[in-house]
Amino acid sequence: MDIVMLHPSHIPHVQTCNITNLPENYFAKYYLYHALTWPQLSYVAIDLSKPPRSKHDPPKIVGYVLAKMEEEPVDGVPHGHITSLSVMRTHRRLGLAEKLMRQSQKAMVETFGAKYVSLHVRVSNKAALRLYKDTLQFEVEKVESKYYADGEDAFSMKQDLGFIW
Ligand code: ACO
Repeated sequence: MDIVMLHPSHIPHVQTCNITNLPENYFAKYYLYHALTWPQLSYVAIDLSKPPRSKHDPPKIVGYVLAKMEEEPVDGVPHGHITSLSVMRTHRRLGLAEKLMRQSQKAMVETFGAKYVSLHVRVSNKAALRLYKDTLQFEVEKVESKYYADGEDAFSMKQDLGFIW
Protein backbone atom coordinates (compact mmCIF):
# COMPACT_ATOMS: atom_id res chain seq x y z
CA MET A 1 0.00 0.00 0.00
CA ASP A 2 1.32 3.42 -0.90
CA ILE A 3 0.11 6.81 0.35
CA VAL A 4 0.79 9.62 -2.12
CA MET A 5 -0.32 13.19 -2.66
CA LEU A 6 -3.53 13.64 -4.62
CA HIS A 7 -2.65 14.27 -8.29
CA PRO A 8 -5.21 15.67 -10.76
CA SER A 9 -5.04 12.37 -12.71
CA HIS A 10 -6.33 10.55 -9.58
CA ILE A 11 -9.52 12.58 -9.39
CA PRO A 12 -11.91 10.30 -11.37
CA HIS A 13 -10.80 7.32 -9.24
CA VAL A 14 -11.16 9.30 -6.02
CA GLN A 15 -14.65 10.32 -7.13
CA THR A 16 -15.53 6.64 -7.61
CA CYS A 17 -14.28 5.87 -4.11
CA ASN A 18 -16.23 8.82 -2.69
CA ILE A 19 -19.49 7.90 -4.45
CA THR A 20 -19.14 4.28 -3.32
CA ASN A 21 -18.65 5.19 0.33
CA LEU A 22 -20.44 8.45 1.09
CA PRO A 23 -23.62 10.30 0.09
CA GLU A 24 -21.78 13.65 0.09
CA ASN A 25 -20.33 13.94 -3.42
CA TYR A 26 -18.53 16.74 -5.24
CA PHE A 27 -17.85 17.93 -8.78
CA ALA A 28 -14.40 17.13 -10.19
CA LYS A 29 -13.53 20.84 -10.13
CA TYR A 30 -13.87 20.90 -6.33
CA TYR A 31 -11.30 18.08 -6.00
CA LEU A 32 -9.08 19.92 -8.48
CA TYR A 33 -9.37 23.12 -6.45
CA HIS A 34 -8.11 21.24 -3.38
CA ALA A 35 -5.27 19.57 -5.32
CA LEU A 36 -4.07 22.82 -6.87
CA THR A 37 -4.54 25.16 -3.91
CA TRP A 38 -3.29 22.97 -1.02
CA PRO A 39 -1.43 20.11 -2.78
CA GLN A 40 0.23 18.97 0.46
CA LEU A 41 -3.05 18.30 2.25
CA SER A 42 -4.88 15.66 0.20
CA TYR A 43 -3.67 12.08 -0.18
CA VAL A 44 -4.69 8.81 -1.78
CA ALA A 45 -4.01 5.22 -0.74
CA ILE A 46 -2.98 3.05 -3.70
CA ASP A 47 -3.09 -0.76 -3.57
CA LEU A 48 0.15 -1.97 -5.13
CA SER A 49 -0.54 -5.68 -4.65
CA LYS A 50 -1.60 -6.02 -8.30
CA PRO A 51 0.82 -3.84 -10.29
CA PRO A 52 -0.66 -2.20 -13.43
CA ARG A 53 -0.14 -4.31 -16.57
CA SER A 54 0.56 -1.24 -18.68
CA LYS A 55 1.16 2.44 -18.09
CA HIS A 56 -2.41 3.05 -19.26
CA ASP A 57 -3.91 1.03 -16.39
CA PRO A 58 -5.39 3.32 -13.72
CA PRO A 59 -3.92 3.17 -10.20
CA LYS A 60 -6.06 1.18 -7.77
CA ILE A 61 -7.14 3.92 -5.38
CA VAL A 62 -8.67 2.40 -2.26
CA GLY A 63 -8.91 5.45 -0.01
CA TYR A 64 -8.42 9.18 0.10
CA VAL A 65 -8.46 12.22 2.32
CA LEU A 66 -9.52 15.51 0.78
CA ALA A 67 -8.47 18.43 2.95
CA LYS A 68 -8.00 22.19 2.79
CA MET A 69 -7.12 25.25 4.81
CA GLU A 70 -10.11 27.33 5.90
CA GLU A 71 -9.83 30.36 3.63
CA GLU A 72 -11.55 32.95 5.82
CA PRO A 73 -11.52 31.57 9.37
CA VAL A 74 -14.20 33.36 11.41
CA ASP A 75 -12.03 33.06 14.55
CA GLY A 76 -8.98 34.45 12.73
CA VAL A 77 -6.99 31.32 13.63
CA PRO A 78 -5.34 29.45 10.72
CA HIS A 79 -6.77 25.98 10.61
CA GLY A 80 -7.31 23.03 8.35
CA HIS A 81 -10.55 21.29 7.45
CA ILE A 82 -11.18 17.69 6.40
CA THR A 83 -13.59 17.90 3.47
CA SER A 84 -13.94 14.16 2.95
CA LEU A 85 -12.36 10.86 3.98
CA SER A 86 -13.16 7.32 2.92
CA VAL A 87 -11.65 3.89 2.47
CA MET A 88 -13.07 1.10 0.31
CA ARG A 89 -14.76 -1.71 2.29
CA THR A 90 -12.20 -4.22 0.98
CA HIS A 91 -9.38 -2.25 2.61
CA ARG A 92 -10.86 -1.16 5.94
CA ARG A 93 -9.36 -1.76 9.41
CA LEU A 94 -5.83 -1.73 7.99
CA GLY A 95 -5.00 1.66 9.46
CA LEU A 96 -5.34 3.50 6.13
CA ALA A 97 -7.73 6.21 7.32
CA GLU A 98 -5.52 6.94 10.32
CA LYS A 99 -2.44 7.21 8.07
CA LEU A 100 -4.20 9.46 5.54
CA MET A 101 -5.45 11.74 8.32
CA ARG A 102 -2.09 11.98 10.09
CA GLN A 103 -0.24 12.77 6.87
CA SER A 104 -2.66 15.60 6.07
CA GLN A 105 -2.61 16.98 9.63
CA LYS A 106 1.21 17.01 9.68
CA ALA A 107 1.28 19.03 6.43
CA MET A 108 -1.36 21.43 7.79
CA VAL A 109 1.04 22.33 10.59
CA GLU A 110 4.35 22.19 8.72
CA THR A 111 3.26 23.87 5.49
CA PHE A 112 0.44 26.18 6.54
CA GLY A 113 0.94 26.77 10.28
CA ALA A 114 -2.48 25.34 11.18
CA LYS A 115 -3.36 25.52 14.87
CA TYR A 116 -6.20 23.05 14.68
CA VAL A 117 -8.18 20.92 12.24
CA SER A 118 -11.96 20.71 11.98
CA LEU A 119 -14.49 18.41 10.35
CA HIS A 120 -18.15 17.40 10.26
CA VAL A 121 -19.37 13.86 10.75
CA ARG A 122 -22.85 12.31 10.88
CA VAL A 123 -23.98 11.67 14.47
CA SER A 124 -24.82 8.07 13.43
CA ASN A 125 -21.38 7.33 11.91
CA LYS A 126 -19.98 5.06 14.63
CA ALA A 127 -16.86 3.91 12.74
CA ALA A 128 -15.75 7.44 11.85
CA LEU A 129 -16.54 8.69 15.36
CA ARG A 130 -14.33 5.98 16.88
CA LEU A 131 -11.55 6.94 14.48
CA TYR A 132 -11.82 10.65 15.21
CA LYS A 133 -12.46 10.50 18.97
CA ASP A 134 -10.46 7.51 20.14
CA THR A 135 -7.65 7.17 17.61
CA LEU A 136 -7.03 10.78 16.61
CA GLN A 137 -8.28 12.58 19.77
CA PHE A 138 -10.73 14.97 18.13
CA GLU A 139 -13.28 16.59 20.41
CA VAL A 140 -16.91 17.43 19.71
CA GLU A 141 -17.31 21.19 19.56
CA LYS A 142 -21.05 21.35 18.87
CA VAL A 143 -23.96 19.63 17.16
CA GLU A 144 -25.09 21.24 13.91
CA SER A 145 -28.76 20.51 13.49
CA LYS A 146 -29.89 19.12 10.09
CA TYR A 147 -26.44 19.75 8.62
CA TYR A 148 -26.82 17.06 5.97
CA ALA A 149 -29.16 17.16 2.95
CA ASP A 150 -31.23 14.26 4.35
CA GLY A 151 -31.79 16.12 7.64
CA GLU A 152 -29.27 14.26 9.82
CA ASP A 153 -27.35 16.26 12.44
CA ALA A 154 -23.57 16.62 12.33
CA PHE A 155 -21.00 16.70 15.08
CA SER A 156 -18.65 19.58 14.43
CA MET A 157 -15.31 18.27 15.68
CA LYS A 158 -11.93 19.84 16.31
CA GLN A 159 -8.44 18.61 17.03
CA ASP A 160 -5.80 20.88 18.50
CA LEU A 161 -2.62 20.50 16.44
CA GLY A 162 -0.44 22.61 18.72
CA PHE A 163 0.89 19.76 20.81
CA ILE A 164 1.25 17.11 18.09
CA TRP A 165 4.09 18.40 15.96
N1 ACO B 1 -15.96 0.22 14.06
C1 ACO B 1 -15.37 0.72 15.16
N2 ACO B 1 -14.21 1.42 15.14
C2 ACO B 1 -13.64 1.66 13.94
C3 ACO B 1 -14.21 1.18 12.73
C4 ACO B 1 -15.41 0.44 12.82
N3 ACO B 1 -16.03 -0.06 11.73
N4 ACO B 1 -13.42 1.57 11.69
C5 ACO B 1 -12.40 2.26 12.23
N5 ACO B 1 -12.51 2.31 13.58
C6 ACO B 1 -11.61 2.98 14.54
C7 ACO B 1 -10.84 1.93 15.33
O1 ACO B 1 -10.52 2.50 16.58
C8 ACO B 1 -9.60 1.74 14.46
O2 ACO B 1 -8.50 1.23 15.15
P1 ACO B 1 -8.36 -0.39 15.30
O3 ACO B 1 -8.58 -0.99 13.94
O4 ACO B 1 -6.95 -0.53 15.81
O5 ACO B 1 -9.42 -0.81 16.29
C9 ACO B 1 -9.31 3.17 14.05
O6 ACO B 1 -10.61 3.75 13.84
C10 ACO B 1 -8.46 3.31 12.80
O7 ACO B 1 -9.09 2.61 11.76
P2 ACO B 1 -8.57 2.63 10.26
O8 ACO B 1 -8.23 1.22 9.85
O9 ACO B 1 -7.52 3.66 10.07
O10 ACO B 1 -9.91 3.07 9.52
P3 ACO B 1 -10.36 2.63 8.04
O11 ACO B 1 -9.20 2.71 7.11
O12 ACO B 1 -11.07 1.35 8.11
O13 ACO B 1 -11.38 3.80 7.66
C11 ACO B 1 -13.45 5.01 7.78
C12 ACO B 1 -12.34 4.30 8.57
C13 ACO B 1 -12.81 6.12 6.90
C14 ACO B 1 -14.43 5.66 8.74
C15 ACO B 1 -14.14 3.94 6.88
O14 ACO B 1 -14.90 3.08 7.70
C16 ACO B 1 -15.05 4.52 5.80
O15 ACO B 1 -14.58 4.84 4.70
N6 ACO B 1 -16.35 4.66 6.12
C17 ACO B 1 -17.33 5.17 5.15
C18 ACO B 1 -17.05 6.63 4.80
C19 ACO B 1 -17.03 7.51 6.04
O16 ACO B 1 -17.81 7.34 6.97
N7 ACO B 1 -16.10 8.52 6.02
C20 ACO B 1 -16.00 9.51 7.10
C21 ACO B 1 -17.06 10.57 6.91
S1 ACO B 1 -16.71 12.07 7.82
C22 ACO B 1 -15.74 13.01 6.79
O17 ACO B 1 -15.55 12.65 5.64
C23 ACO B 1 -15.05 14.27 7.32
